[in-house]
Amino acid sequence: MALVPRVFLTSEQIQNRVREMGEQISSDLPDGPIYLIGILKGAFMFLADLSRAIQTASRIEFIGISSYGRGKTTSGQVKVTKDLDVSIEGHHVLIVEDIVDSGVTLTYLMNVLRQRRPKSLNIATLLDKPDRRLRPVEVAYVGFKIPDEFVVGYGLDFAEDYRNLSNICVLTEA
Ligand code: IMP
Ligand code: MG
Repeated sequence: MALVPRVFLTSEQIQNRVREMGEQISSDLPDGPIYLIGILKGAFMFLADLSRAIQTASRIEFIGISSYGRGKTTSGQVKVTKDLDVSIEGHHVLIVEDIVDSGVTLTYLMNVLRQRRPKSLNIATLLDKPDRRLRPVEVAYVGFKIPDEFVVGYGLDFAEDYRNLSNICVLTEA
């Protein structure tokens, strides 16, 4: 059965919301630098746009996380596959994520990064599926709360496809 992407959030809706998030973050954290830490690979596009919407001086870093298991859900086991190249001690850190689903990934990452003693540690996610939460995680900045649907585009993939779409789409079976 073929999977067809159906537009769920347009590029314009995303851009408008990202701009608002950038303004909020800039006013909450006026003193830079903010270390924007994108979680590979899904956050790359959101990070590119969000970083340009933040007025406070920022630095861009990436971290790789893998969760064992395949398909559309995260399994319980998480590990760092590509660590940061820099120390974050004493710096403002904003984790930039594409989507919070079970919360397993971010709970793990928050624990790892908190041990490195940043000055502040917060999360910005473009999308949040609160209905699927297994671990409570405090997310300071949420772009859109969405229902329990599998979405792709704007960085998000299904088996590595669709990351390059400008819109966020729901995959439907045609
Ligand atoms: P969590 O640990 O369950 O919160 O997993 C979050 C990760 O699962 C995200 O970083 C995405 O990589 C992936 N994910 C969860 N939901 C979706 C979705 O609807 N589309 C694409 N990836 C998703
Ligand atoms: Mg991800």
